[in-house]
Amino acid sequence: MCLRICLCFLTILGSLYASGGRFRFASYYGDHMVLQKAPERAVLWGYGPDDTEVTVFLSGGPFTNNAPAVSVAAGIWRVTLDPMEAGGPYNVTAVLQNNHSITLTDVLFGDVWLCGGQSNMAFTTSQVFNASEELALASKFPQVRIFMAALEQSYTELTDLAGVEVPWSVPTAKLLGGGDFKHYSAVCWMFGRHLYKALKYPIGLVTSCWGGTPVEAWSSPRALKHCDLDRINGFPIPYTPSMYLSVWTHSVLWNAMIHPLLNMTIKGAIWYQGEANTDYNQKKYSCSFPSMIDDWRMAFHQSSGGQTAPDFPFGFVQDLSPRTMPQDYLA
Ligand SMILES: *[C@@H]1O[C@H](CO)[C@@H](O)[C@H](O)[C@H]1NC(C)=O
Ligand SMILES: *[C@@H]1O[C@H](CO)[C@@H](O)[C@H](O)[C@H]1NC(C)=O
Ligand SMILES: *[C@@H]1O[C@H](CO)[C@@H](O)[C@H](O)[C@H]1NC(C)=O
Ligand SMILES: *[C@@H]1O[C@H](CO)[C@@H](O)[C@H](O)[C@H]1NC(C)=O
Repeated sequence: MCLRICLCFLTILGSLYASGGRFRFASYYGDHMVLQKAPERAVLWGYGPDDTEVTVFLSGGPFTNNAPAVSVAAGIWRVTLDPMEAGGPYNVTAVLQNNHSITLTDVLFGDVWLCGGQSNMAFTTSQVFNASEELALASKFPQVRIFMAALEQSYTELTDLAGVEVPWSVPTAKLLGGGDFKHYSAVCWMFGRHLYKALKYPIGLVTSCWGGTPVEAWSSPRALKHCDLDRINGFPIPYTPSMYLSVWTHSVLWNAMIHPLLNMTIKGAIWYQGEANTDYNQKKYSCSFPSMIDDWRMAFHQSSGGQTAPDFPFGFVQDLSPRTMPQDYLA
């Protein structure tokens, strides 16, 4: 318990420190990234000293983009680009007061997809049938870019990710096969490369998943309330059998691994989860899962300033079987 409280405290300290005025992009904007293409407009944000102005421009590609200057308020700036056709690479440069600049290089415009869930999504490309053949395909898909959030929990909604497991990267066999259940998600990767084959433009994959986790951990208190899963005076239900630590606490993964991503414009999400709910609030799943989907859609739409569609595609594998599974299957 102390460990959890201390970690949480450190996380809060960490994010305060991180936003201490240094001019930079938020954690999930990086070299080699994919930003959402037209018709949506990509949102970029970062940190800077208060009462300064930031201008963002693109260079290197066929199109320019003249986003107006924005002010830094409460240590944060935020720019919405004009709609951009698919392609690149571009450099994305943010300039502080015509003085100091920071640049993201090799940025592509395409479709950005979020991949979430439990171990079914965390299951890595090195664990699939014919893994070596699949891993060897990495170099054939340089326009599919991958990113993965680190496993973090928080009792409060975080502004930015507390950690990054895989920064935006061009896929390599090493990154796709970075250890069982570490990185990179086989389902997310294969989804991305199939999309690329069909669409022939860049695909950005953002994985944020954690093995053995119930839908309640990924749901905001708002979504849980809709299903009467937010009891005990607003406090998370302390359902924490020791083997699962606190990833079973309601909303902790929403807080740390989804909420920070809301302002990024995305095309859609895919989800692979369910086993962790075979023995936990199973009868409520027909409320809690759709409620989480509605809530994610509303929150991504609102936080992106209306760029992410309010009814964005949300693909999922129907995985929750009515039978009770043995405990060691709950991964
Ligand atoms: C993009 O940025 C990199 C690194 O700063 C630089 O080497 C390159 O020339 C830039 N490309 C363009 C088109 O500005
Ligand atoms: C530009 O940066 C220098 C040194 O970092 C600083 O002294 C100066 O005030 C800055 N100018 C503006 C216009 O922000
Ligand atoms: C594995 O690779 C072999 C040879 O390429 C192929 O015949 C087989 O269908 C593959 N199996 C799976 C499950 O993809
Ligand atoms: C994200 O968007 C919401 C809603 O527009 C806003 O309140 C919040 O400050 C934004 N966060 C960042 C880090 O830009």
